[in-house]
Amino acid sequence: MEKVFPEGFLWGGATAANQCEGAYNVDGRGLANVDVMPHGKDRFPVGLGLRKMLDFEDGYFYPAQTGIDFYHHYKEDIALFAEMGFKTFRMSLAWTRIFPNGDESEPNEAGLAFYEDVFRECQKHGIEPLVTITHFDCPIHLIKEYGGWRNRKLIDFYKNLARVLFTRYKGLVKYWLTFNEINMILHLPFMGAGLVFEEDEDKEAVEYLAAHNELVASAWATKIAHEIDPDVKIGCMLAAGSYYPYSCRPEDVRAAQLANQDNYFFVDVQSRGYYPAYALKKLERAGIDVGMTEEDKQVLAENTVDFISFSYYSTRCSAGEGSDAPKTEGNAFQGAKNPYLKESQWGWAIDPLGFRITLNDLYDRYQKPLFVVENGLGAKDVVEEDGSINDDYRIDYLRKHIETMRDAVVEDGVDLLGYTTWGPIDLVSASTGEMSKRYGFIYVDRDDAGNGTLARSKKKSFDWYKKVIATNGADLS
Ligand code: BG6
Repeated sequence: MEKVFPEGFLWGGATAANQCEGAYNVDGRGLANVDVMPHGKDRFPVGLGLRKMLDFEDGYFYPAQTGIDFYHHYKEDIALFAEMGFKTFRMSLAWTRIFPNGDESEPNEAGLAFYEDVFRECQKHGIEPLVTITHFDCPIHLIKEYGGWRNRKLIDFYKNLARVLFTRYKGLVKYWLTFNEINMILHLPFMGAGLVFEEDEDKEAVEYLAAHNELVASAWATKIAHEIDPDVKIGCMLAAGSYYPYSCRPEDVRAAQLANQDNYFFVDVQSRGYYPAYALKKLERAGIDVGMTEEDKQVLAENTVDFISFSYYSTRCSAGEGSDAPKTEGNAFQGAKNPYLKESQWGWAIDPLGFRITLNDLYDRYQKPLFVVENGLGAKDVVEEDGSINDDYRIDYLRKHIETMRDAVVEDGVDLLGYTTWGPIDLVSASTGEMSKRYGFIYVDRDDAGNGTLARSKKKSFDWYKKVIATNGADLS
C-alpha cells in the first residue's frame, strides 16, 4: 500500500522576522534584542544569555539589520514558495514593527499594513499563513525599562499586541503560535525572554519567573483569540528532540528523564493547564516563587492550546553523575555525545529515527494534534560555475526525516497537521548569525559579512521538495 500523508496535510516552510526581514529601521519599526546581536563568536559574548549590549556598537556587523531583505522581496519569495506547491508558510511578526517600544497603547499602522500585505499575498497563492507572534524578539525598550519577561507588566503588553493582531487579521490568519521555542528561555534567555542578568543573581529563578509570565501571556492570547474568532487555532511551540539516556545505567536514565521534564514543563502547562507536580516540587526545592496568582491559575486552566507545534533537528543524550561520556557542544542543548549518530557541519546530531520517536513521545503524552514547524539541515553550499547548487546532502537529510515522519503518521497513528521545513529560503542563523549556515531550497546571494546581491536562485532541492509536496509525500526519491 502506498504511504501518503492525510488529505489537506499542510506542507510548507518556516521563517522568522528577525532572520529574514531586515529593514530594521523602516516605517517606524523600533529596536529589538535580536537586532543588536552580532554574528559569529561575539553573538553571545558573555556566555549564553548573559549578553550585556543593548545597542549597536562600533566594530560589529549586525546581520538582522538587513537579513535577506524579505521586507522588500516578499512577493518574489512567496511566488517561489507557491511554485514549490506550499500549502502553508510559517512566518513571525516583528513586535517592534507593530509596537516600536512595546508598551504603547496604539499600534504603528505601517507595521500592521506590511503584514496584511504579506498575508494577502499568501492568500493570492492559496497559501495558509501560520504566524508566530514572537520568535525570539523582545523590544529593547521593554528590556531597558522593565527587565524583559521577568516583569509581569509584559503580560499586559503582550495581551495588547495579541488583541490588535487577532482583530486586524481576523479571517486572514487561522493558525497562530504564541512563543517560538518557549523552552529556550532556559538555554538562551536573552533571545528567549530579553533577560539580562546582574552579577550574583539567581539566574534560574529569573528564568522561571520569565517562563511563568510567558506561559500566562500565552494563555491570555489563546483566550483573546478564541473570543475574537472561535475558528482560529492556537498552538504552543517547543524546541523538541527527546533526550536519550547515554546508557541503561539507571543514573543515565534518570538524567534523561529530568532533562525531558525540563522541556515538557512548558507544554505540560500550555496543554494541560496547570503546573505538573515535578515542576512544583523542583521550584519549591530551589526556593523559586514565580508569583502565581489565582487569576493566573484560572486563565491557564481555561485556555489550553489547540495543537502542539515543535521544531526537530536532533535528539539529545543525557549522562548521569559518575559518567565519563564525552560531551558535545553542538547546539544550545549541551549534553553527552551520542556515539551512534553522525553530526552536521555544526555538530548537531542527525537522527531521523529520533524524529519518529519524538513524534510518538509528544503524541502519547498530549493526545492533541501536532504540527512540525521546523526541521532541516544547516549546511555550507557550493555554487558551481554554471550557478547550480547540488545540495544532495540536504535532500538526503529531509528524505530520511520525512520518511520516519510518515511512519509516525501512517503506522503509529500520530495526528499531524503539517510540516514546515526550516528556512525554505536561506536566512540568518539564530545561533551563530551566519548566512553560511544555509537551510534553503532557495539560495540567497549574501555572505557572513553582509556582501552579495541578495539575488535568489533555486537549488537542486527545490524541485525535489516540489515533487514531495505534489505527491503528498508518496514520492521521496
Ligand atoms: C530554531 C529556531 O532553534 O532553530 C530558529 O527557532 C533557528 O530561529 C533554527 O534558526 C535553526 O538554528 P540555527 O542556529 O541553525 O539558525
